[in-house]
Amino acid sequence: MPLVRAATRDDAGDLARIHVETWHAAYPGIVPDSLLATMTLDTAVERWRTALPLLSPNHCLVAVEAGEDAAGDVTGFVRCGPSRDEGAAGTTGEVFSLYVHPASWAGGHGRSLLDAATGLLAGEGFTDATLWVLAANDRAQRFYRRCGWHPDGRTKRHHRDGAVLVEAGYRRQL
Ligand SMILES: CC(C)(COP(=O)(O)OP(=O)(O)OC[C@H]1O[C@@H](n2cnc3c(N)ncnc32)[C@H](O)[C@@H]1OP(=O)(O)O)[C@@H](O)C(=O)NCCC(=O)NCCS
Repeated sequence: MPLVRAATRDDAGDLARIHVETWHAAYPGIVPDSLLATMTLDTAVERWRTALPLLSPNHCLVAVEAGEDAAGDVTGFVRCGPSRDEGAAGTTGEVFSLYVHPASWAGGHGRSLLDAATGLLAGEGFTDATLWVLAANDRAQRFYRRCGWHPDGRTKRHHRDGAVLVEAGYRRQL
């Protein structure tokens, strides 16, 4: 099984690579090509270098390939924290994003990251958690249901770089 640890500033390059390569593997046909084209390594590295120092400690976790090398390859990441939804209870946490590099799909990395994020939120006193997933992302929704999450009936339209994305809300007790 992979190891999960807190992300450090030194992970920016790996996080950007995983973010971009996972988008290009998972999202054709799910998000418009014009939006996929904006997801480039240079832009992502810049964004992660800026974002990482600003994130609360432990609210960005990475999975690392378990092995003899303690500094093994980073295979995925999860970000979580208090819910960002308007009107959400203070006891509701949120999983903001979860990405596993396609080379490591179906190897337990996604589940390990999600378990670590929900464990962290529970330890901080959150009693339930929500997340948003693209309505057309069937694979991720199957994955979340297998991990104990369920659709909560909410949908929202999200505008990004000229594209309109529809997202579905999921929830679980912690
Ligand atoms: C969704 C994602 C995070 C899952 O990560 P993963 O490492 O492949 O998942 P795991 O190997 O931990 O799988 C966990 C469970 O889901 C199941 N699963 C994995 N791939 C699946 C698939 N394609 N369809 C259905 N179930 C699947 C596994 O069988 C496993 O169940 P089990 O533990 O009961 O056997 C990963 O595929 C990904 O990064 N996708 C692209 C980005 C994305 O969609 N992120 C979510 C956006 S909100």
